[in-house]
Amino acid sequence: MTLQEIMAVDEKYYMNTFGKRLPVAFDHGKGMYLYTEDGQDYMDMFAGIAVTALGHCHESFTKAVQEQVGKLLHTSSLYYIKNQALLAKKICDCSVADRVFFCNSGAEANEGAMKLAKIYYYKQGREKYEIITLNNSFHGRTLATVAATGQPKYQKPYKPLVPGIKHVDINDFEGLEAAVTDKTCAIMLEAVQGESGVHICTDEYLLKVRKLCDERDILLIFDEVQTGMGRTGEMFAYQTTPVEPDIFTLAKALGNGVPIGALCAKESVAKGFEPGDHGGTFGGNPLATAAGMAVFEAFEKENILDNVRKMGDYFEDRVKALNSSDILEIRRKGLMIGLQMPQGRAAEVQKKLFEDRVLVGCVGGHTLRILPPLIISKTDIDIFIAKLGEALA
Ligand SMILES: Cc1ncc(COP(=O)(O)O)c(C=O)c1O
Repeated sequence: MTLQEIMAVDEKYYMNTFGKRLPVAFDHGKGMYLYTEDGQDYMDMFAGIAVTALGHCHESFTKAVQEQVGKLLHTSSLYYIKNQALLAKKICDCSVADRVFFCNSGAEANEGAMKLAKIYYYKQGREKYEIITLNNSFHGRTLATVAATGQPKYQKPYKPLVPGIKHVDINDFEGLEAAVTDKTCAIMLEAVQGESGVHICTDEYLLKVRKLCDERDILLIFDEVQTGMGRTGEMFAYQTTPVEPDIFTLAKALGNGVPIGALCAKESVAKGFEPGDHGGTFGGNPLATAAGMAVFEAFEKENILDNVRKMGDYFEDRVKALNSSDILEIRRKGLMIGLQMPQGRAAEVQKKLFEDRVLVGCVGGHTLRILPPLIISKTDIDIFIAKLGEALA
């Protein structure tokens, strides 16, 4: 099928929620590169929106998934699943979580987090059900997570929204404090807001938020759907801050492309869920959890976190050396990178890069959003910076 034929079928039959996509369809991938059927290579600096942390067709990951596909895909959680148990243990071993529940996406993980916060207090016979999130956050597209997402453009058609959710500005502690009531059960935030263009919570703010949560008996939820699994240079972004959450959520890179989400919580909170309180058909099935285990193994064997830290610093140095007047600000944690540009310029640069067969993201025309696979090397960064320099020229 030609690209034009694929586009014609897509435009006739696929629900048009994505608008006009970039005019390309990929057939296969390897490492940092995606390839069209006729062999054109594209450098992938967006990793399928922060998903393919190990790059495409990573050797040991692919082998593990292929083996699992040949053995068993799905049984349901009516029975024990070895990798479900082992992956839950892996996450707990390297985090503050004591228990994990698996689902299929980031939105679903955040739904679970909000449900857990509510039921945790409900079981204590207390009326605490309000949730506070941040403006410009992104928590997903289900009805509850779209209400939690602090961006009116995603909410407007779905009113009345799930009630009890308030939004306040990032790093505005006084605003947050003023929004808290005796009915607040949770504050949910991204330590680094991704979708809205890489905005970082300050340590000072997070320390105050944690203290407020402790004083007012409120659960602190970190949405680590995008930041989780090494993106910021630690396995979880909260580990780059001075605070710990009570609950955190994962998805995206946890399965390196095999859909999986995770709701992770401290024991005291996790016990809010008892048999029958939550569930799902697919969550943590043998395939998804084999993928998650293979991701953890690759992280350990290849020292991915160390690479993220080193390559993140190198990337920033190289961007600075471009000395471009179009780059107004570099916002970055690890390999979660936002380059602020004059309005409209980032969209132009994204288009030029695409024409040069390099994939990056763009927020509102003003921020170039770069989320490379975490296996990126200095050579890859040099190639990208040369292309970015040309696009900016
Ligand atoms: C921080 C954050 N939370 C939640 C989501 C929703 O995840 P999903 O698209 O897997 O439902 C996203 C997706 O971009 C995200 O970045």
